[in-house]
Amino acid sequence: RRGKRIGAEFPVMDEEERRDRLSRPMDEEQLDRIMRLPKVELHLHHEGAAPPAFIKGLAKEKSVNLNGVFKPDGSYAFRDFVHFLSVYEAATSVLKTPEDYARLTKAVLEESAANDVIYSETFLSPDFCGGSDVGAWREYLHAIKDAANEAERDHGIILRGIVTCIRHFGPEKAKASALCAAETAGDWIVGFGIAGDEMKGKPKDFAYSFDMAREAGLRLTAHAGEWGGAQSVRDAVDDLKVERIGHGVHAINDLALVDKLVENEITLEVCPGSNVNLEVYPSLADHPIEKLRQRGVKVTVSTDDPPFFHTTMRDEYINLARTFRWDEDVFAELNDTAARAAFCDEDTRTRVLKRLERT
Ligand code: ADE
Ligand code: ZN
Repeated sequence: RRGKRIGAEFPVMDEEERRDRLSRPMDEEQLDRIMRLPKVELHLHHEGAAPPAFIKGLAKEKSVNLNGVFKPDGSYAFRDFVHFLSVYEAATSVLKTPEDYARLTKAVLEESAANDVIYSETFLSPDFCGGSDVGAWREYLHAIKDAANEAERDHGIILRGIVTCIRHFGPEKAKASALCAAETAGDWIVGFGIAGDEMKGKPKDFAYSFDMAREAGLRLTAHAGEWGGAQSVRDAVDDLKVERIGHGVHAINDLALVDKLVENEITLEVCPGSNVNLEVYPSLADHPIEKLRQRGVKVTVSTDDPPFFHTTMRDEYINLARTFRWDEDVFAELNDTAARAAFCDEDTRTRVLKRLERT
């Protein structure tokens, strides 16, 4: 333990210091510099990043009825998280071919690059890409990779994929996804994960799939502690042996777990705007990202499903800077943490770290 930043030994900023920091005026030029920083994003759902106009256009081309998916103003319509998942799946139903996914990839990466993202990891679900048939999945993947290579050439953004099973589809479907992942593991498909309804089933139910992915050389992450409590994060760490957690914010309710995350150097893929939009927390000021960071947890910032939650990476940075008075040093540390926790190979990591170097 010596030399490690363990939470219990790590003083949380006292209330007076916090108030003093928040009372200082925010420098607009500094905010502008922060907004334009090069960014690393580790937690982005491919379909969840689809602009609503893109999905609406595809639905029209294919004569798919998407009644109830959009609000009158054109944005996605959902009442709560479970409804969000069903609207997400309805929107995804118009993505029917590898070519549709290639077009989606282009649209997503253009938007990410416009937000100064230089490296991104995206969650891809074979359930949506060919129904978890390995042959069909390979075709989808081929189309997505081609589009990503084009975006890298045109916009300099690097993309890598994390195959993701869907918790509420159950452990058997997850095994089929894990097989797709294992068959295509390499320098582009670099990880395996789980998303979906955290209140359905237990991490242990998915251990077989995570073991298969690990044995294929994939790095592991799991959504946990978004809707579930600290125990859900503990179970994901213990039963799935993941090195990153998607969200993980409810770990803050168990300081022994926070210490364990610090000790085991587990990185949290925190999505503050998503959490506020879905009312996991009433406001960004109530969000625990700053407390987790101050206790020494490796935190990173992502958008999750940006158009659904009316956010972008630039918005996230501006809102965090304003709310917690984070300066360039804090954001530089976040991006360094993200680059080091990325699942890409070492050559790619070196390239990303080089681009993060400050001039
Ligand atoms: N799938 C897409 N977004 C998600 C989220 N925020 N939580 C769980 N599953 C998801
Ligand atoms: Zn997510």
